[in-house]
Amino acid sequence: AARAVVVVAAGSGTRLGIGTAKAFVPVAGERMLVRALRTVLTLAEPTLVVVVAPADRMDECRALVLDVAGAAAEYVTVVPGGADRHASVQAGLAVLPDSVATVLVHDAARCLTPASQFERVFVAVAEALAAGPGDGAAAAAAAAAAAAVSRVRGVGVVPALPVTDTVKRVAGDVVVETVDRSALVGVQTPQGFPLAALRQAYAVAEQAETDDAGVFQAAGGVVRTVPGDADAFKITTRWDLGRAEAVVAERAG
Ligand code: CTP
Ligand code: MG
Repeated sequence: AARAVVVVAAGSGTRLGIGTAKAFVPVAGERMLVRALRTVLTLAEPTLVVVVAPADRMDECRALVLDVAGAAAEYVTVVPGGADRHASVQAGLAVLPDSVATVLVHDAARCLTPASQFERVFVAVAEALAAGPGDGAAAAAAAAAAAAVSRVRGVGVVPALPVTDTVKRVAGDVVVETVDRSALVGVQTPQGFPLAALRQAYAVAEQAETDDAGVFQAAGGVVRTVPGDADAFKITTRWDLGRAEAVVAERAG
């Protein structure tokens, strides 16, 4: 397969506070990782899948993959994650064959993300690759960025939604100013990149960036947005879990 999805599922779920790895917490009776995996397995083109699992739940995770994927389990690899998301993504990228051109990195905790969002990101990465250098503003910016020493080339893609709350900059509890919301978006996953460029970006990255696009951009890559989807929200707190269960109930009609 020329494309792959890395599903990071090795987090502990501290903020959810259930005392078990978050990806293994059920949402309306089905574990987050199972839901995320099911969606990835519906993608039309052949896609390699890497599940990055908690190191102490490897056997359980392999059994889960067999259960969900059936014969397609041969396309799925399970690897142990690291101490933070950054390390877990790197562990996932490390096992992909070099024949993979495009990789999407996805949070298992965004387990209700529709398949259409994966396809939208894959299409946008492919279009950026096809545009090549010298074609379009993003490619020009990428070329300029790549001209700097040891900068990655290429264009990454993130799903994004407008920010709906009024946003303030604060110093302690004192409001400094209102931030212009029209210039802000919230980003989701899956985030898509040329594999070689993302690996290179992770190899040079500081650990401060909280998403893959941040790592990619800090290394000199250009990142573009495509429309996100409200259902791709990340389950972080108990409230999010309740919201996810409501979405599932609504889908069931
Ligand atoms: N993740 C991971 N490895 C880590 C930390 C996070 O694979 N060491 C994954 C999580 O499993 C999740 C995604 O990264 O799918 C987003 O992370 P987050 O929502 O922060 O999940 P947790 O780290 O599990 O939650 P918390 O921060 O509340 O502990
Ligand atoms: Mg976390």
